Amino acid sequence: MHEDDRRSLKPGTRLVTAGRHERARRGIVNPPVWRASTILFDSVGEMRAAVRKPDEGLYYGRRGTPTQWSLAEALTELEPGAEGTLLYPSGVAAVTSVLLSLLSPGDELLMVDSAYEPTRAICNGLLKRFGVSTRYYDPLVGAGIADLIGDKTRVVFLESPGSLTFEVQDISAICAAAKARGLTTVLDNSWATPLFFPAIGRGVDISILACTKYIVGHSDVMMGSATAGPGHYAALRKTAMALGQCVGPDDAYLAARGLRTLGVRLRQHEEGALTVARWLAEQPQIARVLHPALASCPGHDLWRRDFAGSSGLFSIVLNGGDDAARAALIDGLELFGIGFSWGGYESLALPIDPAGLRTATAWQAEGPAIRFHIGIEDPADLIADLSAGLARFESARR
Ligand SMILES: Cc1ncc(COP(=O)(O)O)c(C=O)c1O
Repeated sequence: MHEDDRRSLKPGTRLVTAGRHERARRGIVNPPVWRASTILFDSVGEMRAAVRKPDEGLYYGRRGTPTQWSLAEALTELEPGAEGTLLYPSGVAAVTSVLLSLLSPGDELLMVDSAYEPTRAICNGLLKRFGVSTRYYDPLVGAGIADLIGDKTRVVFLESPGSLTFEVQDISAICAAAKARGLTTVLDNSWATPLFFPAIGRGVDISILACTKYIVGHSDVMMGSATAGPGHYAALRKTAMALGQCVGPDDAYLAARGLRTLGVRLRQHEEGALTVARWLAEQPQIARVLHPALASCPGHDLWRRDFAGSSGLFSIVLNGGDDAARAALIDGLELFGIGFSWGGYESLALPIDPAGLRTATAWQAEGPAIRFHIGIEDPADLIADLSAGLARFESARR
């Protein structure tokens, strides 16, 4: 199929066809694993030709093989308007590399206050050490971001919804204000993926995914990606190459295999999470459910305006109780694992304490909070498990 025809396909079809070029798979359904460090050339002349055009074929393992190229092309095809995609050894590596490629000593970064904790750590540690200052902003600032942009501001970083507290940002208003001042916008789009929010087409310059989550989908590979809008690919690539960032072909193969079922998995996560979240919202032990598709979530109207769906990750705030009562709830759960990350097929519960992770806004809560990832199990079983958990919380709270 011609490239232009592929681009006009619906997102669900693109998930199946994207990146599966004949040159990468030679008739095999999934582009196979090409493992390589050294690439052998037939002559010195051929080797020199490859050095002159390192992007046009096999050159050296760090620059990838058809396995990694095919995955990167697939992620690009999911973002209409995108120029290209870089792969990184983790989501955090993607965030670090993108920020290092955009910022120089003396520059300022505007970072959303609800950002993933290690993203904050990059700003407060590495970037600070290299002379880049960070100003945190309220996730609900919207067009008001314009008032925060100063002479030294170069980049606005968004994470929408925030992966602990789920505020939904006004991405188009923020991007429009940033663009008017010549700034670059970067979005951590791991929660929605391009399927529920095609970021580049909505005005974001660079869209980052922790592929570790929904792209891989099976909790067994670490990977990140950055998809660049027009004019941004070359700078990202230069930094990634300078830092020696690359992913192994076996991991790329698994991520590409996960990608093919992203649509059905996300719909199942969505349905299960909504069922569980709506049930939780009715329980007296719960003060608030922070799920972008529920009216109780800050920015819910923006989610309705912008997103094609919701995934399996959300949080709750308990009604009173302390850390021990929260632990009693979580520790006895049979179907929820206790662990970091999310996006696999299995459910998870994580105690979260956002108060210490904010500087521009204050986290106010009626009790301790828990983040849930709802896997693809039957929600009725998850609800029964949570019901017993809430009873344990109730007794421990007294
Ligand atoms: C929103 C978000 N962004 C980035 C990351 C980092 O991804 P990784 O764990 O692959 O480094 C995470 C990980 O939990 C995350 O939740």
